[in-house]
Amino acid sequence: MEKTFIMVKPDGVQRGLIGEIVARFEKKGFKMVGGKLISVPRSLAEEHYAEHKERPFFGELVDFITSSPVFAMVWEGEDIIKTARHMMGTTKPAEAAPGTIRGDFGVTVGKNIIHGSDSATSAEREISLWFNEDEQSSYTKKVDEWIY
Ligand code: TYD
Ligand code: MG
Repeated sequence: MEKTFIMVKPDGVQRGLIGEIVARFEKKGFKMVGGKLISVPRSLAEEHYAEHKERPFFGELVDFITSSPVFAMVWEGEDIIKTARHMMGTTKPAEAAPGTIRGDFGVTVGKNIIHGSDSATSAEREISLWFNEDEQSSYTKKVDEWIY
């Protein structure tokens, strides 16, 4: 089963959207296998967004992610990387479809509520960057028999 790294960004936590976002993934049928509220050290934020190091928004992005706690999670399910990206909506909330998380709750690109890994390679890198093995649980949900 595929895993992905999902993070409610500081704006989502401050606006009380952790529950709403967790509920959407739960209701979809996905399984949370790790989750924690953390104040992000600058080094971790820089490492997480390393691919954007040269972009003009990098400094502001790191300032934002370290400005207030985030809720970091690992979720598991069939094709979850791609499906979670669809559930999040496009990067710019103005272009995100209604019904997606960014489409329903976001207004501007700098505060777009949620992060989700964009590929299998990113998911593997981000999960190991944010979570230790002992912070992830492997368990069975009875309802899975009615989802798969
Ligand atoms: P990116 O990886 O392109 O988007 P996504 O989060 O959908 O994978 O960019 C990472 C974050 O950087 C994005 O969620 C918000 C921020 N960002 C800006 O602030 N300005 C921008 O022009 C872009 C492209 C991203
Ligand atoms: Mg990205």
